[in-house]
Amino acid sequence: MRVFNFAAGPSVLPEEVLKQAQADLLDYKGCGFSVMEMSHRSKPYMEISLEAENLLRELLNIPQNYDVIFVQGGASTQFEAVPLNLHVFGKADYVVTGNFAEKAYKEACKYGDISIAASSKDKNFTYIPENISFRSDIDYVHITTNNTIFGSRYREIPKANAPIVADMSSNILSEKINIEDFGVIYAGAQKNLGPAGVTVVIVRNDLTDKADKLCPTMLKWSTQIKEKSLYNTPPCWSIYIMSLVLKWVKNLGGLDYIQKVNEEKAQLLYDCIDNSDFYTNNIEKRYRSIMNIPFVTPSAELDEKFVSEASAQGLKQLKGHRLVGGMRASIYNAMTVDGVIKLVEFMKQFELNNK
Ligand SMILES: Cc1ncc(COP(=O)(O)O)c(C=O)c1O
Repeated sequence: MRVFNFAAGPSVLPEEVLKQAQADLLDYKGCGFSVMEMSHRSKPYMEISLEAENLLRELLNIPQNYDVIFVQGGASTQFEAVPLNLHVFGKADYVVTGNFAEKAYKEACKYGDISIAASSKDKNFTYIPENISFRSDIDYVHITTNNTIFGSRYREIPKANAPIVADMSSNILSEKINIEDFGVIYAGAQKNLGPAGVTVVIVRNDLTDKADKLCPTMLKWSTQIKEKSLYNTPPCWSIYIMSLVLKWVKNLGGLDYIQKVNEEKAQLLYDCIDNSDFYTNNIEKRYRSIMNIPFVTPSAELDEKFVSEASAQGLKQLKGHRLVGGMRASIYNAMTVDGVIKLVEFMKQFELNNK
C-alpha cells in the first residue's frame, strides 16, 4: 500500500514513474533486460541519457551556452568540485543560510581566500540575507537556493560582479527560474529529479575551462562535458528514472503548472500553521520554503506523539531534522495536493485532541 511520504530526500517519486519503471524492469523496450543491465555505451542507454538532458533543457529553458552534465558523488562532492573548477588559491564569497551552505563554505576554505559575505546563523537560519555586498575581485559567489533542513528559500537571486554558483538540490524544478542569473547550478537528484545516485550540474560554458591542474579528472566538469556524461560508467538506472520524472513533469504542463501546484500545497500547510496557536514555523514569511516546511507543537513530547500518530495514519517520515527537531513536511513535486490535505486534516484533529 502506498502512503503519503513526506521525506526530505530520498523522497517520494511519482506513482506513474514507479509503475513505468516496474513495467520496464524485466524487459526494457524489447531488449530482454533492464536499464540496470545494459551497457552505458549501448544505443538505448545513450538515448535515455540524451532524452534526460533534452527534457531538463526544455523544462528549465537552459540556453545553448550552458552545458548539462550528470555526475556522481552527490551535491556534497560539488562542494569541493566548485572551487576546484572555478579557482584554486582564488577568491570566493559564500552566503551561509543553513547547514549545507555552511558545509559548502567549509570545503571551499581549503582552496583559497574564501569569505562569508553574509550569514543568517545569528537568527538560527530563519531568514535569507538580502542586499549583500560582495567583494569586487572574487571568482564566484556561492548560495544555497533552498535550505532543506531549516525550510527557507531565496526570493531573489543576488547580483554580483562574479558568477553565482547555486546549490539547488532541494528546489530545482519546483518553480520557474532564469538560468542566466547563474553561472553554475548543481543539484543532487534525490528530491525533485529522481533517485539518489545522480547529480545534475549546469555550467555556463565560459566557466568550463578554469579547472586547476590539481582538480581530479572525475571532478572536472570538462571531463564529463567532453564525453557527454559518459566518461565513466554513469548511474544509468538513476538517470533513466530521472528521464521518466522529467517526462512526467512535462506531461503535467511543465514548470508553470508545477509551480502553481507547489505554491497551493505550501499555502495550505502554512495557513494551517498560521491559523493555529498550537503549531509554529519560525521562518520569516517572505523566505519560507515551498518545498520543506518545518513546524513544532508546544512541546517535544507532543512532537513525538504527532510523528507517531501521523505515521499510524499513513502520513510518513514527518520527523524533523535532528538540528531543528519537531516535524518537517517535505512537499516536493511528487507529493500530491491530496497528501497535503490529509496532513492538514490530521494536524487540525491532533490540535483538537491535544490542546
Ligand atoms: C541543499 C542541499 N545541499 C546538499 C545536500 C547534500 O546532498 P548529497 O547527499 O547528495 O551529497 C543536500 C541533501 O539533502 C541538500 O538538501
